[in-house]
Amino acid sequence: MSTPRFYVTTAIAYPNGRPHMGHAYEAIATDVIARFKRLDGFDVRFLTGTDEHGLKIDQAARAAGKAPKAYVDEMVAPFQALDDALGISYSRFIRTTDADHKALVQALWQRMAANGDLYLGRYEGWYSVRDEAYYDEAELVTGEDGAKLSPQGTPVEWTVEESWFFRLSRYQQPLLDLYDSQPGFIQPTSRFNEMRAFVAGGLSDLSVSRTSFSWGIKVPGDERHVMYVWLDALANYLTGAGGLDGEWWPADLHVVGKDVVRFHTVYWPAFLMSAGVALPKAVFGHGFLLNRGEKMSKSLGNVVDPAEMATRFGVDRLRWFLCREVAFGDDGSYSDEAIVERTNADLANGIGNLAQRSLSMVAKNLNGMMPQRGEPGETEVRLKEAFLAGTDAYFAAMNGLALHKALDALMGMVTAANGYFAENAPWALAKTDTARMAEVLAATLDATRRIVLLAQPFIPDSTNRLLDQLGVAADARDFSALNSPVEAGLELPSPAGVFPRITIEA
Ligand code: MSP
Repeated sequence: MSTPRFYVTTAIAYPNGRPHMGHAYEAIATDVIARFKRLDGFDVRFLTGTDEHGLKIDQAARAAGKAPKAYVDEMVAPFQALDDALGISYSRFIRTTDADHKALVQALWQRMAANGDLYLGRYEGWYSVRDEAYYDEAELVTGEDGAKLSPQGTPVEWTVEESWFFRLSRYQQPLLDLYDSQPGFIQPTSRFNEMRAFVAGGLSDLSVSRTSFSWGIKVPGDERHVMYVWLDALANYLTGAGGLDGEWWPADLHVVGKDVVRFHTVYWPAFLMSAGVALPKAVFGHGFLLNRGEKMSKSLGNVVDPAEMATRFGVDRLRWFLCREVAFGDDGSYSDEAIVERTNADLANGIGNLAQRSLSMVAKNLNGMMPQRGEPGETEVRLKEAFLAGTDAYFAAMNGLALHKALDALMGMVTAANGYFAENAPWALAKTDTARMAEVLAATLDATRRIVLLAQPFIPDSTNRLLDQLGVAADARDFSALNSPVEAGLELPSPAGVFPRITIEA
């Protein structure tokens, strides 16, 4: 049987500023999914990168007094450095200025043109440079000073220019058919409903080229025009799959923020249908991360550097916190206090304590030798049942992209294992019944090993260190290890704490 494959992507970030916690959050959540799939036996391709063309980048480069390419070359470095610092296991970091991407986008355009979906016209309407999006008058809102704003609250400007148009209106019915026949295409359900209503309300043709600036991919056959940055950007997923007929296409999952779900679930499938290319299987719109409940913005002065957070708290604590505390799909909030409290409770007192107590007793009382399992008694049967149910709940949640629910299930197993240990009090058995003590330690270590195996996608570095201590070979850590028991008699290295408690520095 051939290995099943899984192709997952993040949105690609605009490198017109430094990466923020929202970028880190999306990268981490997607990395957790990619790692889960790998451990579950899939051959995974994971694409991330940067969105480097368009008016927004052009203006930012001008403001910095740089040529756009020199500007993005400089600005992309911190995004790559952040991914590497956070342990993001991407297969490729794509930049839309990459040569293979430019060629792909032009080929995509030609296929859409050949299908009769592109025509030359004149755009007159509202444009938000910050969102790189066109808006209808009816969508605009009024700001405090009476100015017109996009629905996202960004400034809009009246734009009049010659433009190529895409016949998006043709795709209203095919899109509705897609949503109805494949409800999992847009997740979670709240975003599905929003997008379905938007499309059901009618679609106008979409302006897909600009002539008033030149920082973009040229329209084949009409070089006065550069392509609309979203057409260029969305196509990165195809470039990353190996091209129009790429071996990794179609994508299994695009993970994106809620503000860009429309581009991914309306424009993107319509472009692909036009070009005769298969559609991605699902788009998941995650929520926004807020700093103490407030939107992060330069004017509020509450933008924190995620690389600095990772250094201060440790990468795994940050990864754990974001996946555990934020219901995946909903908005969520972070603060130093919440990170400290959550990770002390779950990692130091929960998983760390369980591993530390059982491993140090084995080192002290059993010469560091993995003990033999005994005949299961009533408490072992209860523990086993809790673990079977917990493991099922974990897999169901992960496969349904409910990352927070998977961690709920995992913490339920931690509580059950710590309860088993306390109830059987092996430290007391050390004085009265060493054979039984060894059995209790064996059962606890087996439970710990299972928990640590399942925690790997979330906290890869700490779990690697714990699996070393538990004597699990580096090449035998995928989920098939859950089917086999621990080997008795294995010599374990001396244990060392992996999750010290932390406090907030003054
Ligand atoms: N360049 C476009 C995406 C093109 S995808 C073909 C873009 N870039 S972005 O830099 O503004 O955002 C990148 C991703 O980060 C998006 O998925 C966006 O939703 C997400 N986030 C931006 N701010 C965020 C938070 N505060 N919280 C969580 N995610 C956020 O949009």
